[in-house]
Amino acid sequence: MSELFSSKYGPWALVCGASEGLGAEFGKQLARRGLNVVLVARRADVLEQVKASILSETKQEVRCVTADLSSADAVKLVAEATASLDIGVVVYNAALSPLGPFLEQSVDESLRAIDVNVRGPIAFSHHFGTRMAAQGRGGLVLLSSLTAFQGSPFVTTYGATKAFNLTFAEGLWFELKQRGVDVLSVCAGATRTPNLMKAAPDGAPGMLEPAQVVTEALDRLGGGPTMIPGVFNRFASFMMRRVLSRRMTISIMGEQTRKLQKPKELPR
Ligand SMILES: NC(=O)c1ccc[n+]([C@@H]2O[C@H](COP(=O)([O-])OP(=O)(O)OC[C@H]3O[C@@H](n4cnc5c(N)ncnc54)[C@H](OP(=O)(O)O)[C@@H]3O)[C@@H](O)[C@H]2O)c1
Repeated sequence: MSELFSSKYGPWALVCGASEGLGAEFGKQLARRGLNVVLVARRADVLEQVKASILSETKQEVRCVTADLSSADAVKLVAEATASLDIGVVVYNAALSPLGPFLEQSVDESLRAIDVNVRGPIAFSHHFGTRMAAQGRGGLVLLSSLTAFQGSPFVTTYGATKAFNLTFAEGLWFELKQRGVDVLSVCAGATRTPNLMKAAPDGAPGMLEPAQVVTEALDRLGGGPTMIPGVFNRFASFMMRRVLSRRMTISIMGEQTRKLQKPKELPR
């Protein structure tokens, strides 16, 4: 199975936001499936640790590229660093997720979330999608979220950027499948990553391990445009989209997300 995967999406994979959490796990599992991996993030030292961990268990090549994906130049920098590599799959995993009431966040922070979560996926999908389409094969994986399906209070801007990723990936899925390139939007629910555990030290309903999310996502690449990891999340999403009213769904999201911070920080 991993030979099939690597011949379809190899020899190189690129993971944007690969120093921890889901991104590091994508790097590891792509290497286990026989691909060489380029890891991108801002913290060079942490990237090197992920690289060492991959090298300790696979024979694949690993390269690290330090880049700030909120910068408009990031795609150019990564494109130059990978120009000689045949990249068959790109996972755009990095995200900025400002937490708290919209009006209490600086507008600069919200706009930076647009840069990392929206500008980045567009720029990377365009550059690497063009290369893949020219070869008639490849895969693009964009990280979305259950926050994408309705307004998500207290992560309002983040949720809206994840809605963008969902819709963007679905459009690209149709356009690019005719060019041999598979596109997948991964609508993850709560996942035990350092970022989530900072906000929710006690965990969250239906929380999954990164390994399960990534395995399910990579298994689904080449199928439909969208996937939701985990049975609990699929059931919750079904209820919220098909059974409950939109107003109720937004309220549930708001009350759940409110718990992610001390009550005094989130006024009722
Ligand atoms: N965890 C969850 O519960 C959950 C739920 C639903 C969806 N998701 C989605 O899954 C993805 C990963 O989430 P996560 O919780 O693992 O962590 P995350 O905090 O969203 O992303 C962490 C990774 O992205 C990198 N990164 C962040 N900003 C960057 C920037 N400006 N430039 C370069 N790299 C940057 C970080 O590395 P550096 O700090 O070293 O740069 C780190 O490797 C996100 O797209 C998120 O929306 C997560």
